[in-house]
Amino acid sequence: MGETEAAFQIRVDGQVGPTGRPLPDFPDPPVLTGHGPARIIAMCNQKGGVGKTTTTINLGAALAELGRRVLLVDFDPQGALSVGLGVPTHELDVTVYNLLVERGHDIRDVIAHTRVEGLDVLPANIDLSAAEVQLVGEVAREQILARVLRPVIDDYDVVLVDCQPSLGLLTINALTAAHGVIIPLECEFFAMRGVALLVETIEKITDRLNPRLVVDGILATMYDGRTLHSKEVVASVVEHFGDRVFHTVISRTVKFPDASLAAEPITTYDGSHKGATAYRQLARELIARGGAA
Ligand SMILES: Nc1ncnc2c1ncn2[C@@H]1O[C@H](COP(=O)(O)OP(=O)(O)O)[C@@H](O)[C@H]1O
Ligand SMILES: [Mg+2]
Repeated sequence: MGETEAAFQIRVDGQVGPTGRPLPDFPDPPVLTGHGPARIIAMCNQKGGVGKTTTTINLGAALAELGRRVLLVDFDPQGALSVGLGVPTHELDVTVYNLLVERGHDIRDVIAHTRVEGLDVLPANIDLSAAEVQLVGEVAREQILARVLRPVIDDYDVVLVDCQPSLGLLTINALTAAHGVIIPLECEFFAMRGVALLVETIEKITDRLNPRLVVDGILATMYDGRTLHSKEVVASVVEHFGDRVFHTVISRTVKFPDASLAAEPITTYDGSHKGATAYRQLARELIARGGAA
């Protein structure tokens, strides 16, 4: 990441960002003239409620606004990603679960379009909770999601996999299929608790199953700039992870749960809100770092 960092334009005003570092300018990326093959990114943290699903939806929507073709994979049996995009999961007979455990389905029949142009979703529902147990006895059980996604990889520029809050076999499948990982961290006490275990898991996957896997970035979420506490948490995360921490941080705002209830990304629910602006900046930062086309 060091060399791409050098490509950033440091703003002439020298403004320091919320992570305590000079804030680069992230320009609009070039328009893509063709699409695919996709870079796969797993959204991972075994802690729940840190903003994985919110980030998957809104980063995905922001990338789609930039003309990227984006597939979001709901890989949590809770199905919050699907519901948050208006997919009626309880009515679905076939979901990502069936693609994982049965033969003979076409992934293109399972993928749903969202109201956002260029943003598709591979939905999940509670059926997925059975997959972990069922897959344990399979040959190459860690590589099943990679195999499921292969037929549509050339149709998309980015695939974001919204992981469940665990380091079980589903998450291992996501990390094995992925090129990169984004780790959302809530700006709270104990935010870093468990991250060592996650990093250890990622290193094991890199060693044994997926040498191309890299950490694309650590994302501070639920940031409250009015509190010293939020600033201290971000400072300690930067101290620990350095340049791997995104310059973009996501503020705490009730607009996110509001947008989820409305089954929309914040970028369409309230496109001028600072939460929408933040995810658009994250999309440009990710592309500038080489984390997406
Ligand atoms: N930046 C934020 N500010 C306020 N609430 C948020 C923010 N990000 C997420 N939330 C809310 O917090 C809850 C957990 O977020 P979610 O994205 O579902 O986390 P995870 O997928 O890691 O469990 C949800 O109700 C969501 O709407
Ligand atoms: Mg979630």
